[in-house]
Amino acid sequence: MTDRIVLLLSGPNLNLLGEREPEIYGHTTLEELVASARLAAGAHGCELEHVQSNHEGVLVDAVHAARGRVAAVVVNAGALTHYGWSLHDALAAYDGVVVELHLSNPQRRESWRSTSVVAPVADGVVAGFGAAGYPMAVEAAIGLLEARS
Ligand code: DQA
Repeated sequence: MTDRIVLLLSGPNLNLLGEREPEIYGHTTLEELVASARLAAGAHGCELEHVQSNHEGVLVDAVHAARGRVAAVVVNAGALTHYGWSLHDALAAYDGVVVELHLSNPQRRESWRSTSVVAPVADGVVAGFGAAGYPMAVEAAIGLLEARS
């Protein structure tokens, strides 16, 4: 396990950020969010890898590939947050730090969004801060790593 790599995972539809429901998710593109997360990681001497997919299995594979190699996973699973049990199981089998991330605050939206299958396998949650949440979540993950070492 290297303490230098943080993996940012982006679930379904997050590739459309910037265009998708900007009144909820803002105008920042995924590329810009990844750049801000990468900057936050770099400030702490960490490298940021990013995987976006609209397919749950690709995200599951990315978590498997992170095992024993990546120190922390920051995951905005999109709608998979609410029903992606195979992603839950993959994260349960991953022993690094896990931070759940959302642009919006799912708790104050439709009731089906108030269930998270990621939360039970996450060390912490950053939600509702829009684009600012991306560097926050990376810093939170690195803070937990430092507290563990
Ligand atoms: C989201 C919230 C989810 O409920 C939704 O399905 C998304 C984005 C967020 O970042 O606020 O796709 O994860």
